[in-house]
Amino acid sequence: MILVTGGAGFIGANFVLEWLNASDEPVLNLDKLTYAGNLGTLRSQQDNPRHVFVRADICDRATVDRLFAEHKPRAVLHFAAESHVDRSIHGPADFVQTNVVGTFTLLEAARSYWNTLNDADKAAFRFLHVSTDEVFGSLSATDPQFSETTPYAPNSPYSATKAGSDHLVRAYHHTYGLPVLTTNCSNNYGPYQFPEKLIPLMIANALAGKPLPVYGDGLNVRDWLYVGDHCVAIREVLARGTLGETYNVGGWNEKTNLDVVHTLCGLLDDLRPKASGSYRDQITFVKDRPGHDRRYAIDARKLERDLGWKPAETFETGLRKTVQWYLDNQDWVQNVMSGEYRNWVAKQYEA
Ligand code: NAD
Ligand code: DAU
Repeated sequence: MILVTGGAGFIGANFVLEWLNASDEPVLNLDKLTYAGNLGTLRSQQDNPRHVFVRADICDRATVDRLFAEHKPRAVLHFAAESHVDRSIHGPADFVQTNVVGTFTLLEAARSYWNTLNDADKAAFRFLHVSTDEVFGSLSATDPQFSETTPYAPNSPYSATKAGSDHLVRAYHHTYGLPVLTTNCSNNYGPYQFPEKLIPLMIANALAGKPLPVYGDGLNVRDWLYVGDHCVAIREVLARGTLGETYNVGGWNEKTNLDVVHTLCGLLDDLRPKASGSYRDQITFVKDRPGHDRRYAIDARKLERDLGWKPAETFETGLRKTVQWYLDNQDWVQNVMSGEYRNWVAKQYEA
């Protein structure tokens, strides 16, 4: 079986659902169920004997050791993290704990389990670390995209802790020979994304008749990838990636935030028209994010060249699917917009 950490979050859950759909191999899903983890996303799998869910913290070494010993996974796919930049600005401690200490604990547990394996199982074992393009810092409008050799220059507590975790993963390969792989992906969007992130937040606010809060001048650029394409890339890297190497994953979809919000409003005007006017009328410019990175962009040629991966969705097809999914799954959205979510919105947007 495979061990997935953070499999109740946005990307981890999409990965688990696709894995169980496409393969017979069972999944051990280890997730702490923070505010960002949601078992409702995995409801379709609750009676599936190939999906074993364990609520646990990756920082809890004894539990992680026990899970390795009991389930003997052939691979670890490490998604679990604190993932929201704005939250890392308000409270970095959880980010250091989960992203750095948690990844270290998981690496230690994996190394100790791996050392008990016979030579064939040792050679087949994989530790795949899911990381971000934010570790490379910020680009100017004319800089080339981030490649696998771009130096690390993280700017937020979130990206600094992800960079720290990437370095630990690299060191465990170099020093101990642990068979690791790392992926650094650009901004994901798609079903089951928590509505604190740009796209689902804008959809939720638009439908609720609330302001659409664009930070600063709205001209910061992100490189958007449909979550299903990210999941396929991870499967490819797991199956055929070169040990110790890193792979950049991106969709060649650079957009300003303002472009994204206008496109979303256009789709909503089409799919769920308002009684009068356009959702665009709700766009509001608000105070900028401190230290806001100007531009991210991924050069994904290594993944395309070495492993034959290409995204299946364009930004237009992926975003239309996503908006339709949120319109069709308002129960899921209402369920995750709990008291904790309302507290966050008050702290971030109303203060
Ligand atoms: P998410 O915040 O939606 O989900 C994170 C999951 O990890 C949640 O289910 C949460 O309960 C779990 N978790 C948090 N702390 C934990 C702990 N201590 N122990 C066990 N579980 C814990 O995040 P996401 O957007 O799905 O991102 C998943 C991974 O992909 C992260 O490592 C993130 O850095 C990376 N990534 C995200 C994006 C993106 O655009 N969302 C892009 C590139 C890389
Ligand atoms: O690049 C990959 C990263 O993408 C991942 O590693 C992170 O886990 C993920 O959260 C995401 O980080 P961003 O900070 O780019 O995503 P976010 O959705 O928070 O913001 C996208 C852009 O939109 C960013 O420039 C900030 C802006 N924004 C965001 C919010 C929530 C707004 O203008 N208004 C908002 O209300």
